[in-house]
Amino acid sequence: MFAVTATAMDPQDPLAGLTLGDVPDTDVPDGWVRVHVRAASLNHHDLWSLKGVGLRPEQLPMILGGDAAGVLDDGTPVIVHSVIGDPAAGRGDETLDPRRTLLSELHPGAMAETVAVPSRNVVAKPDELSFAEAACLPTAWLTAYRMLATKSGLRVGDTVLVQGAGGGVATAAIALGDVMGFRVWATSRDETKRVRAVELGAAEAFEPGARLPERVDAVIETVGEATWSHSLKSLRPGGTLVVSGATSGPNPPADLARVFFLQLSIVGSTMGTLGELEALTRLVVDTGVRPTIDATYDLRDARSAFERLQSGDVVGKIVLTNG
Ligand SMILES: NC(=O)c1ccc[n+]([C@@H]2O[C@H](COP(=O)([O-])OP(=O)(O)OC[C@H]3O[C@@H](n4cnc5c(N)ncnc54)[C@H](OP(=O)(O)O)[C@@H]3O)[C@@H](O)[C@H]2O)c1
Repeated sequence: MFAVTATAMDPQDPLAGLTLGDVPDTDVPDGWVRVHVRAASLNHHDLWSLKGVGLRPEQLPMILGGDAAGVLDDGTPVIVHSVIGDPAAGRGDETLDPRRTLLSELHPGAMAETVAVPSRNVVAKPDELSFAEAACLPTAWLTAYRMLATKSGLRVGDTVLVQGAGGGVATAAIALGDVMGFRVWATSRDETKRVRAVELGAAEAFEPGARLPERVDAVIETVGEATWSHSLKSLRPGGTLVVSGATSGPNPPADLARVFFLQLSIVGSTMGTLGELEALTRLVVDTGVRPTIDATYDLRDARSAFERLQSGDVVGKIVLTNG
């Protein structure tokens, strides 16, 4: 079958290790199902893998991709849940299973004609969503959903600041935050992305580091070092900073005095449970909100898609389609 595979790692030139071509068909172990992939979306995780972050050289070659939607052997349309873990080992939450893994870390990923996943790792795809839209949900949108719905402590009417408005998680958080009844403020370095953030549902968009009209109840942080200080300074006493990424670097000053004096909560978040993916899918159908798709490429033209992701000049998700 045709697949998009990491065959080498290079932090300076990640796309040098991107190989497109035929690979042996994926095994389907007992208790797993085969999904015929109709659409798969790109994430920064795929670039990290090509840079050698999260994958070890002895795991190569590895089919990339965590996000997919497709059909089972019997034709049932599904969305793939890419967190492979045992809820019982994580106190009811598979994302907290110490042995949790994401598709394309240990098991072959979804940028291929077919992907195998444990039979519990699929959610019915509603007719209202296209395969391309559905393929955007399992990572960036699920991550944003868990940050807002489960981790932030936000209540309807509260204000949330989303840093780095152009990113995949950030665009999802803006659109979801709006339909979940929060007032969304966003920051971006780029004027065009600030305009886009308002179109997506932000009440206002600011330059990074700007003094806000008032302090916020929660911050959605994926940028890291470049925005961390602003995130802490923007919170009201008792506010919550939810962090799921650190694109600009993972080690900003901790500013501990501010954290304890204002009794701030700093909460890490990663991906989401199957139940959260089901709830997100229902929310998307019920509210009509849809993932922003920056560009769509044929699976066989994945190199162009990766070049676009690497350029950083992206608003929303990049999707590969198959058939
Ligand atoms: N934990 C999880 O489950 C999970 C899931 C998905 C993603 N992630 C992580 O979350 C992070 C975000 O990923 P993503 O794909 O959503 O977006 P991304 O493409 O990595 O970019 C996020 C945003 O960061 C801002 N940014 C980047 N470098 C910056 C800098 N030097 N200074 C200021 N702002 C900067 C940009 O915003 P503007 O251009 O608008 O300013 C950009 O749009 C990644 O590190 C990813 O690995 C984690």
